[in-house]
Amino acid sequence: MTYLVNDQCIKCKHMDCVEVCPVDCFYEGENMLVINPIECIDCGVCEPECPADAIVPDTHYKGDELEFWMKVNTDYSDIWPNITEMRPSDTPKDAEEWHGVEGKWEYFSEKPGKGDS
Ligand code: SF4
Ligand code: F3S
Repeated sequence: MTYLVNDQCIKCKHMDCVEVCPVDCFYEGENMLVINPIECIDCGVCEPECPADAIVPDTHYKGDELEFWMKVNTDYSDIWPNITEMRPSDTPKDAEEWHGVEGKWEYFSEKPGKGDS
């Protein structure tokens, strides 16, 4: 069991989630974050912190969708840097305009973010 970040994070990247995770298992890409499913202890405290509703328990998905979001979170948490402190100045200025927009996966960037520096 784990929580997963989905494409609702893309172009929002508020980073409130990283401040509450007791095991520091968020990893940063250029325009979204992911959770490392192995490290996540399934506590659920990050879910209500996200203003974009981008964090869901894995039980939210089934079949191909579950496989897809599990793979995204697993693969990119392996190669992106760890982030444990939010940097409000790096949240996109128009983040709120992207809340709830459908189909944001097309804007996904594989590039890493800065992570904790
Ligand atoms: Fe971290 Fe808990 Fe969220 Fe998992 S569910 S990412 S352990 S805050
Ligand atoms: Fe993304 Fe929400 Fe965290 S927008 S960075 S999952 S607070």
